[in-house]
Amino acid sequence: MIQSWRKALAALVCCAFVYGPAFAQSDGGDAAGDAAAGKDRFYTCIGCHGIPDYNNAYPTYHVPKIAGQHAAYIESALKSYRSGARKHSTMHAQASSLSDQDIKDIAAYLSQQKP
Ligand code: HEC
Repeated sequence: MIQSWRKALAALVCCAFVYGPAFAQSDGGDAAGDAAAGKDRFYTCIGCHGIPDYNNAYPTYHVPKIAGQHAAYIESALKSYRSGARKHSTMHAQASSLSDQDIKDIAAYLSQQKP
């Protein structure tokens, strides 16, 4: 009995250590996105929305430039694609898989990029 308690406690301490910083960040930090996480999340978008540091954008595909846009603009654009208020099948598909936090993170990341 005491043994398993110890194990449980060890697991708890371990998890608190691993997830602690993430919790600390979402604590009150809800208003702002996490640009580093947004950069990871934006990986799937680069193919179409190439940004200066990445040269693998599809050259013949016309997409809006979104680097350097205001975070609030990007956030609202993605939310309206997700809800269908703004109609575009490709972007609807892209935005559907994003959570509110993903959208905030991506918006934070993009708004920090140079246009
Ligand atoms: C297959 C190509 C493709 C991919 C992948 C893609 N997009 Fe788009 N995106 C587009 C196109 C095309 C538009 C223009 C749609 C329109 O006319 O409303 C667009 C529009 C946008 C806009 C609105 C820009 C504006 O000026 O209003 C945002 C923001 C955006 N995309 C973000 C993203 C994010 C974030 C991802 C990744 C999760 C992503 N896109 C992935 C093609 C793509």
